[in-house]
Amino acid sequence: MSESRPTIVAANWKMYKTPAEVAPWFDALERALPRARRERAPSLRLVFFPAFPLLPAAARALEGRDGLELGAQDCHWEAEGAFTGEVSLPMIAAAGARWVLVGHSERRQHFGETEETCARKLRAVLDHGLSPMLCVGETLGEREAGKAKTVVLRQLTRAADGLDRDGYRRLAVAYEPVWAIGTGHTALPDDAQEMHAAVREALAAIATLDLAREIPVLYGGSVKPDNAAELFARPDVDGALVGGASLDAESFAAIAEAGVGVSDES
Ligand code: PGA
Repeated sequence: MSESRPTIVAANWKMYKTPAEVAPWFDALERALPRARRERAPSLRLVFFPAFPLLPAAARALEGRDGLELGAQDCHWEAEGAFTGEVSLPMIAAAGARWVLVGHSERRQHFGETEETCARKLRAVLDHGLSPMLCVGETLGEREAGKAKTVVLRQLTRAADGLDRDGYRRLAVAYEPVWAIGTGHTALPDDAQEMHAAVREALAAIATLDLAREIPVLYGGSVKPDNAAELFARPDVDGALVGGASLDAESFAAIAEAGVGVSDES
């Protein structure tokens, strides 16, 4: 983390939970990480990415809870149209979400998401006044072939080149090595730091150095309560996108607590 950027700890619930499970989860989070504790770290932001049908229940649960923000896991780039099964950005915004994940590796791997569709989605998210969290990451084969940086920086620049100043100000990036997602294998903090620094350098090249310094770059891939603090201590790791460990409110709270630990201002 750094003093000029927020620390963001985000929960990606993927295709888990039903609307009835949402309010109890947030109540458990409040007990495990009370507001007074969160307020010690005003630069810590907690973001929740539930499945689409859970958004209204999550928006209700977040009412009056400062510092907690809502996001959707995907979107279509068109505002409306004959796209059966898709969800538009006006629908997402109306449901109370302010963030949208773009290019999660599970969408790239299983649902044909391409660099081209990621670029379109990212621009559409910005055009609708929302904030994109762009996910990038290499596969194990790509890492073993020594291509990790090439792949990650290509995904980044294809999706995020040519935005305006305001666009870069709303962007967050999540570096999620595919081999670390849901596998229990986390990148070593030094390896994560190296990639995050490379991402920031690439952001400086496509935007400006000042903007690149402001853009949060999160790490994702088997982040757990026992490895979060060490990751967050690295200078270019600005938080985490948490999948499996976010399903349980206590374990998510423990990861967020590591974020309080690095952001605590008093
Ligand atoms: P994981 O998922 O924490 O279960 O590895 C992270 C993600 O896919 O965003």
